Amino acid sequence: MSLPPSNTSLQADGRTTMELGAVLPKTAEVRDDHLFIGGVDMVELAREQGTALYVFDEADLRDRMSRYITAFRAAYPESDVLYASKAFLNKAVLQIVGEEGLCLDVSGGGELAIAQAAGFPTNRVFVHGNNKTEQELAEALDAGVGRIVLDSRIELERVNRLAGERGIVQDVFMRITPGVEADTHEYIRTGCEDSKFGFTMREDFAFNCVEDVLAAPNVRLVGMHCHIGSQIFALHSFDEAVAVMIEFLARIKERYGLEILELDMGGGLGIAYRAEDEPSTIEEFATCTAQAVVKYCEQYGVKKPHIYVEPGRSLVANAGVTLYTVGILKTLPGIRKYVAIDGGMSDNIRTALYHAEYEAVIANKAGQPRTEIVTLCGKHCESGDAVVLDGSIQHPDLGDIACVFGTGAYCSTMSSNYNGQPRPAIVFVKDGEARVVTRRETYADLLARDL
Ligand code: LLP
Repeated sequence: MSLPPSNTSLQADGRTTMELGAVLPKTAEVRDDHLFIGGVDMVELAREQGTALYVFDEADLRDRMSRYITAFRAAYPESDVLYASKAFLNKAVLQIVGEEGLCLDVSGGGELAIAQAAGFPTNRVFVHGNNKTEQELAEALDAGVGRIVLDSRIELERVNRLAGERGIVQDVFMRITPGVEADTHEYIRTGCEDSKFGFTMREDFAFNCVEDVLAAPNVRLVGMHCHIGSQIFALHSFDEAVAVMIEFLARIKERYGLEILELDMGGGLGIAYRAEDEPSTIEEFATCTAQAVVKYCEQYGVKKPHIYVEPGRSLVANAGVTLYTVGILKTLPGIRKYVAIDGGMSDNIRTALYHAEYEAVIANKAGQPRTEIVTLCGKHCESGDAVVLDGSIQHPDLGDIACVFGTGAYCSTMSSNYNGQPRPAIVFVKDGEARVVTRRETYADLLARDL
């Protein structure tokens, strides 16, 4: 895989760091030409901790979490917010998630194990996954999770049997594929009809399976779930999904006489990766979801359910940045300028995978205008290994500290040891203090599993 050709006619945008708007973490500021986050100098932090380094603004994390809860409860009091832990997961973030009063979405046994190790209350955990193994289901039942989200009829049989063996009745949701095409990258679109996730609504399959769930003695059907995709800007997709789900609840009530009292609308709210991006706000998302639920419940004559949403990216992406050291500069006249950093697709696969776009600055020149167009390439043995393609940045020199914004979601959780690269440390910053919450991997870690 190689990079798409550079657009050599592009002009740098001339913006300084503070002109990057919604991309920046809440406490970002520039002092003496250095980027500060959480009152901590990113240049000094990079020198102390080494690079590549993931840094999170704790105030920003807490702010988004509390805004989500406040916005949803204001728009719709009977609501809860789950954090989709696949976006970014370690014990430190779970501590904050718990303190801020959110519930948790885990996908599979590993995320659940981390939640348990962090002491997260398991009755506030929902378990997702389109192919949870018997072992993972057993672990979830033994942990006493709040809800298991059934993804198929085969899984229903497994959960019912395993719960029966344990003498328990497990609360479950059914994940429905609502057939809504969300306006986002096709790889992260999940609600459309051709999907490996959930019970399809085609030919009334999901509808008929409700009967099987109701007939299973060791599960209690308490809710329905859907998730239409990720990085969604257009809120009308959520309105459409709510309409489909509430109509579904109405049909269940009519056919089975059962009122489903919980509805989980998944995650998916988009965020600003580029300075010019204008995603909907958390408050707009809450209002849209609440209004849709109220409107369609009235229209279809069903009782208003307790609603859940499961944001991942919109809680953590903009709180996180990645710091790198500039190691090599190569200018290929008429082709592009490469700025090689000490990380790349091992700590951020999103650019290679989805052609994701990011904003970057030189943290030690943060007050200066971005006057150059460069490709921030990684250090891995692949031509397609880049974090920023054709992006504006301040004039780069060897040894500069590059900062890429918006990397708080789906970077550390999708990281790898490609080329034997140890995973970066994770640092939380707040009120002038930096604390390492996940240490950098060592070469010994790379060998730890080899027998
Ligand atoms: N709930 C379920 C069932 C999900 O599958 C996901 C994300 C979420 C909630 C959270 O969605 P969010 O609010 O973060 O959009 N690796 C991709 C994103 C994959 C999303 C997978 N599911 C990326 O880097 O863009």
